[in-house]
Amino acid sequence: MDITLSQKGIYQISSPSLHHLFSFISSRAFRFYEDSSPKSPCVETYPVIEEGVEVVQEEDIVIFSYQDIEVRIGNPLTIEVFIGGKKVLQAEDYFETSGDLDVSLAEKEGHKNKQSDFNGGGLKIHSRSPVYGLGERSGPLDKRGYDYINWNTDDPSAHVDTFKSLYQSIPFFILFNPEISVGVFLDNTYRTHFDLNKTDPSAVKISFAKGEGDYYFFFGKMDEVVSMFTSLTGRNPLCPYWALGAQQSRWSYPSKEKVDEVIQGYRGAGLPLSVVYLDIDYMDHYKDFTVDPSKFPDIVSWLKQKKDEGIVIIPIIDAGVKAEEGYRLYDEGIENGYFSTLNGEVYHNEVWPGDSVFPAFLDEKVQTWWATHIKEFLDLGFGGIWNDMNEPASFKGPLPLDVDMGGSLHEKAHNVYGHFMVKAGAKGFELAARRLFQLTRAGYAGTAAYSSSWAGDNQSIYDHLRLSLPQMMNMSLSGQAYIGVDIGGFGGDATPELLSKWAYASLLNPLYRNHSSLGTTDQEPYLLKGQYLEAYRKALHFRYRLRPALYTELFFAEKDGNVPLRPLLYNYPADERLINENTEIMLGKDLLLIPSLFPGEQKRGGYFPADFIHVESGNLYQKGDHIVNCDLLTLPLYFRKDGLVALEDDEHTLSLLWGEKEGAWTYLYEDQGDGLDYRKGVYNLYRIEMKQGRPYICYLHHGMESRYTNIHVNKFEFPFLPQENKD
Ligand code: GLC
Repeated sequence: MDITLSQKGIYQISSPSLHHLFSFISSRAFRFYEDSSPKSPCVETYPVIEEGVEVVQEEDIVIFSYQDIEVRIGNPLTIEVFIGGKKVLQAEDYFETSGDLDVSLAEKEGHKNKQSDFNGGGLKIHSRSPVYGLGERSGPLDKRGYDYINWNTDDPSAHVDTFKSLYQSIPFFILFNPEISVGVFLDNTYRTHFDLNKTDPSAVKISFAKGEGDYYFFFGKMDEVVSMFTSLTGRNPLCPYWALGAQQSRWSYPSKEKVDEVIQGYRGAGLPLSVVYLDIDYMDHYKDFTVDPSKFPDIVSWLKQKKDEGIVIIPIIDAGVKAEEGYRLYDEGIENGYFSTLNGEVYHNEVWPGDSVFPAFLDEKVQTWWATHIKEFLDLGFGGIWNDMNEPASFKGPLPLDVDMGGSLHEKAHNVYGHFMVKAGAKGFELAARRLFQLTRAGYAGTAAYSSSWAGDNQSIYDHLRLSLPQMMNMSLSGQAYIGVDIGGFGGDATPELLSKWAYASLLNPLYRNHSSLGTTDQEPYLLKGQYLEAYRKALHFRYRLRPALYTELFFAEKDGNVPLRPLLYNYPADERLINENTEIMLGKDLLLIPSLFPGEQKRGGYFPADFIHVESGNLYQKGDHIVNCDLLTLPLYFRKDGLVALEDDEHTLSLLWGEKEGAWTYLYEDQGDGLDYRKGVYNLYRIEMKQGRPYICYLHHGMESRYTNIHVNKFEFPFLPQENKD
């Protein structure tokens, strides 16, 4: 075993079996990677600790130490990590082999048994800890006992626990420990396989089909681990304020008259609304960056009119481009060689427009070209971009693995195709000098830096209402802050009860979008009647009041990797009861949602990890188990008795949820709601603390005039008078 310094702080380990590099990122993170590892799609740069690292070589083992962390790498490959003398990780080389069992008969009937070969390399980590993360998945919060394949997949059938893949692949997970959790990120974009204590209850086994083992390890509390991971791979930039309001979508609202009818429907039923989406039928023959003039004549003045009415319009853009001569996007792409190729010819498949080609998004030139089209489209007056079918999805079988997607073959490019599509889109927002607001279906680690995500085509079934909670929590723990699911379910027909229950169960999701598929029952909330309408209205009105708290959480998500939506365990890591709590969810440190997840349910069991107060009734629930109301007319939301939550009653009036604890505090962030000036300091950040029954408001940053004039605390009203920070 030879150890040499490759660059300052980066050590080369060479032996007949090891050709690896090692570097500390901090005293709680390091990278260990094959020296042939390619440029990462998401890690631009990472800090390398250059000074203070000690290297000791013993026979067949090298020990790197920095402050209180020690990493021992052995040959043949073993990795052991100690922090403060305590072992926190033990791993070794691992090669997955296909089993001997002949499953061909089962496959003939369509059972997907056989896994492709994952014998490119891998790692076996000795662990029995709860496992979280891995992005968007079906199955429960704690992933132990399951295995997943990272291969972005558009499968419209109902997402059930046995699904190995969904639309996104984030090869990052957390092995939870209340003291020191371990985050593991395998930065390899090929098909990878993660067996989480499934075939061996004492081990997590990760393996890749091809490419290199490029690993990052992070150590700390769960919040620290997520923050280290997102600081490396990227974070959701703060969304515009309007993106926290109600969003309505359907495949499709096919004309401007229909969109206007939807807006009127909301208004007429006393339901607030901020955003309407245009699904594929707004386009001229499903051609990206076109608007059908017969359905949406004079789009610019119509969009302006909607904006003045307080409604943002967001169009869908698909990855597949119609192959048709005379269509500008296609002609430009052909002329410049911007589409993916197979054996040197432009590769064709079929998507919505019929015969389609696929921009070679991994090529920077293609990204720049795409960005100019995004800018042009945004300049018409659209408020954001909804990116879809970017796994990429195709109707005539999957794209062959050797399609060239911009200097990278499909087998390697697949999991980052959507990532680079939205990276290109984000460049378009920069060109247009607009605050970023994109949604994407496909993604990889770090996609959050360019786009928010929704969880794809769920269905109008109670199973998917229940799935949405662990799915959101694990996406959050994978570094995605602004996320949501289609409220009411996309496929299938939502009953009024399911729809209104979904409105409550999504209350804390940053993305609050009702969307449904072509051919399903209409599920716009204003079509509801009686108590169902009342329930949806109650959810929506509270949601609007909740925006300052959500916005503040999202500001900190961008700033320091805060996780807005959380499993309860995140806030109460010592409470073992919460390790696999799938039916409750928290926003920040103080808000707890205990929604109904079953039809006909009026009451349910609720577990309170501390003392909480019901936001409507003011009833106190002491730490422990309780039966709580979850009927249609009860808002299933609780705030922590010792906490403080800032809501807004109207544009100028804040109100605080306060359980009368002296010294309870919260942060509050405000800015102009849109635009990029917040990056130049045009925003206010306050710390609000309760002292002797009064709110003391202190500026932590004072960059603009506040829109708030007064503040309510329980029954009392005070002027909103922030003090300059004296420290
Ligand atoms: C995909 C999307 C869905 C959209 C549909 C039509 O299925 O996931 O949200 O409505 O395509 O564009």
